[in-house]
Amino acid sequence: MERIIRANYSEVIFTKLFIGIDLGTSAVKLSLVDEKGGIVKEVSREYPLYFPQPGWSEQDPDAWWAAVVDGMKELLRGADASCVAGIGCGGQMHGLVVLDENDAVIRRAILWNDGRTQKEVDYLNNVIGREKLSALTANIAFAGFTAPKILWMRANEPENFARIKKIMLPKDYINYRLTGVHCCDYSDASGMLLLDVQHKCWSKEMLEICGVSEAQMPALFESYEVVGCVKPEAAISLGFGPDVKVVAGAGDNAAAAVGTGVVGEGGCNISLGTSGTLFISSKSFGVDPNNALHAFAHADGGWHLMGCMLSAASCNKWLCREILQTRKYDEEQAAITDEMLGRNRVFFLPYLMGERSPINDVNARGTFVGMTLDTTRADLLQAVLEGVAFAIRDSFEVARSLGIDIPRSWICGGGAKSPLWRKIFANVLGIPLDMVKTEQGPGYGGAMLAMVGCGVFGSVQEAADALVELASTVEPDPEITARYEEQYQKFRRIYPALKELFPAIQ
Ligand code: XUL
Repeated sequence: MERIIRANYSEVIFTKLFIGIDLGTSAVKLSLVDEKGGIVKEVSREYPLYFPQPGWSEQDPDAWWAAVVDGMKELLRGADASCVAGIGCGGQMHGLVVLDENDAVIRRAILWNDGRTQKEVDYLNNVIGREKLSALTANIAFAGFTAPKILWMRANEPENFARIKKIMLPKDYINYRLTGVHCCDYSDASGMLLLDVQHKCWSKEMLEICGVSEAQMPALFESYEVVGCVKPEAAISLGFGPDVKVVAGAGDNAAAAVGTGVVGEGGCNISLGTSGTLFISSKSFGVDPNNALHAFAHADGGWHLMGCMLSAASCNKWLCREILQTRKYDEEQAAITDEMLGRNRVFFLPYLMGERSPINDVNARGTFVGMTLDTTRADLLQAVLEGVAFAIRDSFEVARSLGIDIPRSWICGGGAKSPLWRKIFANVLGIPLDMVKTEQGPGYGGAMLAMVGCGVFGSVQEAADALVELASTVEPDPEITARYEEQYQKFRRIYPALKELFPAIQ
């Protein structure tokens, strides 16, 4: 896919250009951004996702790189590539990428939504113990996190484990191919369960528990710090001039939060991508005492709390493409009127890949409840859209229980492009939701980090103040919000009633 935002871009003279890379789960999206923050062009390239067993999820790192190279050539066609000053990447988090001594990828990456590590998660949480994990890393183990995957590999693929020379996260593989520097930023490293998040260094004890050494781990940077320049051979194949700087980049949620200006104290961003996240930024380090929300570093030098659901916009995609056999999402949603909001008798648990926040249950499954013979196609779709909003509300309630006030939030990601879904979210949460003008998500955040690294802005906050503009707000409607309050209280009872059943039916 290619989208030229500025039709006459080849005639405009830019002094500096920046590239933002959003290394997602279904595709990589590349954005070419000028020095004033305007989007010049966007390109995306898809790659396959493998589910070798139910609940497992893998991708080939070399397919990511091939997609980046191919997309980059397209992105720069017609532009003066010698103006590119910097590159920043926001990438899917937690994925385990392992290289051998020849820098060859040892096995496919095990992704953030992979649920194979229940045994390792139980070991970490119950034998090593939640308290100790939380003291060492500010977090407990979840199936998608990187440390349990390392333990899984050690137990199940000892020959592969013995060959590991370098461990990295998905976007770090792209940075490595670009620069030759084995690096990671603090926001992404936070999701490995190997980082002492408060002190921003590798936890020696956690590395020992996982049987890996610091020499195998990447060097750590702030997201906006320059890690190196594009290697000459990569620069030639991509058509860049010399000295194109690459910043460490960020996990996709931190990068998306930068893109919506959620930096500094107390901002909130909801991302409705393949995953769904509630992201609360903070200048100071803090931990949820129950570890239901992740306590991670932010890309602005501070920290954040985050709730992450594993299937968000992917639930809608699944229902429309796989079950209803359509790609006309807007047409399907047109059947859902305001009158219907908060009145659905069908409910949907959106746990199509198990669930992370706040229930931490790899065995949970997607479930429709409440259907009758007069249930319509629209009721099912509405239940899916609502189920995702209710599941984000679960994390929202955890944040509230910690005394965090969220009077309004930004919303971004593919799912947020639907006005109906935004309305459902605003009413389920009962708060206004803001959209940014430049809705390019993690890729735009990545480009902003590159601008900071190249000195266009003095800090991430400065970049956000200069570049983030409000496009529109959806306000909650008191009547619909009241109806959704009752619906949410019903939704909350469904998972506890089925929890024991899920492992038994697999
Ligand atoms: C966050 C998480 C997901 C992925 C999706 O903890 O697992 O949001 O980063 O790309």
